[in-house]
Amino acid sequence: MNSTVSTVIDNIAALVTNDPSSGDGSPLGLVRDAAVVIEDARVVWTGESSKAPATDNRVDAEGRAVLPGFVDSHSHLLFAGDRTEEFNARMSGRPYSAGGIRTTVAATRAASDTDLEANLTRYLAEALRQGTTTLETKSGYGLTTADEARALRIAARHTDEVTYLGAHVVPAEFADDPAGYVSLVTGEMLGACAPHARWIDVFCERGAFDGDQARAILTAGRQAGLHPRVHANQLSHGPGVRLAVELDAASADHCTHLTDADVDALAGSRTVATLLPGAEFSTRAEWPDARRLLDAGVTVALSTDCNPGSSFTSSVPFCIALAVRDMGMTPDEAVWSATAGGAAALRRTDVGRITPGAYADLTLLDAPSHVHLAYRPGVPLVRAVWRRGVRVV
Ligand code: NIG
Ligand code: FE
Repeated sequence: MNSTVSTVIDNIAALVTNDPSSGDGSPLGLVRDAAVVIEDARVVWTGESSKAPATDNRVDAEGRAVLPGFVDSHSHLLFAGDRTEEFNARMSGRPYSAGGIRTTVAATRAASDTDLEANLTRYLAEALRQGTTTLETKSGYGLTTADEARALRIAARHTDEVTYLGAHVVPAEFADDPAGYVSLVTGEMLGACAPHARWIDVFCERGAFDGDQARAILTAGRQAGLHPRVHANQLSHGPGVRLAVELDAASADHCTHLTDADVDALAGSRTVATLLPGAEFSTRAEWPDARRLLDAGVTVALSTDCNPGSSFTSSVPFCIALAVRDMGMTPDEAVWSATAGGAAALRRTDVGRITPGAYADLTLLDAPSHVHLAYRPGVPLVRAVWRRGVRVV
């Protein structure tokens, strides 16, 4: 028996499809007076409201905007504790450094599996309420074989986009033997973690891992079947971005300190530049220059970097507002980067767009246009969210 259920969402003032062959022909493929038809977990039709086919159910958008669920391609949600004191000190003038990660490592190692999972599900629910329907997350606060593997095992119960970040920082017990830690990350730890992850990441930065260490770690990860992504050029200029391009990483993340050669390398590659303005906001750092990257033809994604140290926000709308206000992006570009851009950073074509065949992951705003995400910063505009065709908010 066929138990397919179809639903039309109609009377949409502005529908962002991210299909340039739809609607106004822009990268957003904006359709006015639009409708979307979903069947089970997938989108089956988009177009003008007046032409929508008959369906079992109907939802009236009452002149509001609909866009793809956000694809947050960079977060660190397997952690325990928080770093309120460190944030407070920073806001009184102390600089951010990679070393703060060790505070969260201690709290995470001490936490039970139940507490770690409860923390993860809390932030996933928080993100979903703000329109995020696909979310990547990483290990990186365990830094022992057992603690990294359990973080990834827990993450894999909640998302397909799981990243092994054993190379987040050298833990205190290896302070005198960083090479020994790299051997662990590329050996026993990798073996225990690879079955639970899709991606491998390295924090390539002064105070974390240098270019040679990062290359060795990412190469070992590739041999174990993981695909690279890189924390690159966040706090200073360095080899991260060019290494990401060299290894065909899906994404170079942060990209705050770039030379012209870095920008050229990204432009000539399929490595996405993922910008994480929550981190610059929360560390009072210089903004990444999105305009420079876009003008060079680089594909840009926008994500939260949600973590307890450098960017404790799960809100993609907040990041969109920052990117528009301070990084030279137009509202259209920022919305594209937070949806289709995030999907590109995860090498996905089934999310980040509202086109027939894609997952029915949709966000309905309490606003007539997606532009309101930047125009009305800090306002909770997400009114409803569908994930895989199910209304979840
Ligand atoms: O992306 N850069 C490295 N990792 C995180 C920060 C983690 C932390 O401070 O706990 C980031 O900003
Ligand atoms: Fe990060």
